[in-house]
Amino acid sequence: MSTEKNYREQVKHRVTTLNEFIIERQNEFPYAKGELSRLLSHIGLAAKIVNREVNKAGLVDILGEIGAVNVQGESVKKLDVFADEKFINALQASSECCGIASEENKDIVIFDTEVAKKGKYIVTMDPLDGSSNIDVNVSIGTVFSIYRRISQTGHKAELQDFLQEGTRQVAAGYILYGSSTVLVYTTGRGVNGFTLDPSIGEFCLSHPNMKVPDSGQFYSINEGNYVHFPLGVKRYIKYCQVYDKQTNRPYSTRYIGSLVADFHRNMLKGGIFIYPAIEGYPNGKLRLLYECNPIAFLIEQAGGKASDGMDKRIMDIIPTSLHQRVPFFIGSRSMVETAETFMREAEEEEKNKKSI
Ligand code: AHG
Ligand code: MN
Ligand code: MN
Repeated sequence: MSTEKNYREQVKHRVTTLNEFIIERQNEFPYAKGELSRLLSHIGLAAKIVNREVNKAGLVDILGEIGAVNVQGESVKKLDVFADEKFINALQASSECCGIASEENKDIVIFDTEVAKKGKYIVTMDPLDGSSNIDVNVSIGTVFSIYRRISQTGHKAELQDFLQEGTRQVAAGYILYGSSTVLVYTTGRGVNGFTLDPSIGEFCLSHPNMKVPDSGQFYSINEGNYVHFPLGVKRYIKYCQVYDKQTNRPYSTRYIGSLVADFHRNMLKGGIFIYPAIEGYPNGKLRLLYECNPIAFLIEQAGGKASDGMDKRIMDIIPTSLHQRVPFFIGSRSMVETAETFMREAEEEEKNKKSI
């Protein structure tokens, strides 16, 4: 092969790194170009640092619980704390972010420097999702959302900056620390995924323009809670299990217990993930700001759907508190719509029974 042809071949097969991609696409963004790019790059950097710790978690004394309990009343793992710190440090270093709300912290974390006060963005995040899977070498993740602040720049961030509906997200994404490490994000112009190449330490574009199939073979739900589910969910599960040639049923259950991992599989293969209200927990378990809104933004950008199961679009919910939870139905559009129909019909039926 001639040298020139050789060179052309190389260029054709050249990988696009996350940072290159962010810069290439920054013109699509309506606001000042470099700011969001810097923020996203810093998130990519923190992801690499957390990934390094995740990979060696079995070797160093970072496994297990530290005995503390987070604001959700759940035990905090060492790696949760580590990830929380790394992302907070990276976002502070970007100089574009004036504060963070994290699942691990009771209150918002405000960056109180003169530079940070000028930052136009706030971030909400679940630094380590699926933490019960850390000790057993099963996939875990990080989820984040970026919003423009509402309060005036030059001052400290305020609570109102964090209580914005999901439709106001300017970017969102997740990192999945799985058999390989993948970073998936959107700025509202489609969804793109990057796989970390450990040999060069770069996230490389591997899943351009991701689209979720309209239907799929998987339903993901913690069936251990079955007896406490609403009637509509119980019936939908039975529907998933019944043979039907036309809709390719029965579906298979896949449930990892890490939302990021369950979601990523369903996004690629087609499927539905449900964390419904359960008896005693009318809003389910998942948090609107840290888990549901970012994942909902991604699925909508990929052509899918996210709702509370009763036709309320997740991204339209106006948050009233930081750690608010919400029932969550997400995935392939036609599967979510079918589940919603079961929910509506069951609710109607129960209402009618009460009125008799
Ligand atoms: P986190 O580790 O951030 O607390 O999140 C765990 C979440 C989510 O990742 C997963 O889908 C769900 O909790 C699993 O809950 P159950 O064990 O109740 O099924
Ligand atoms: Mn989580
Ligand atoms: Mn978490």
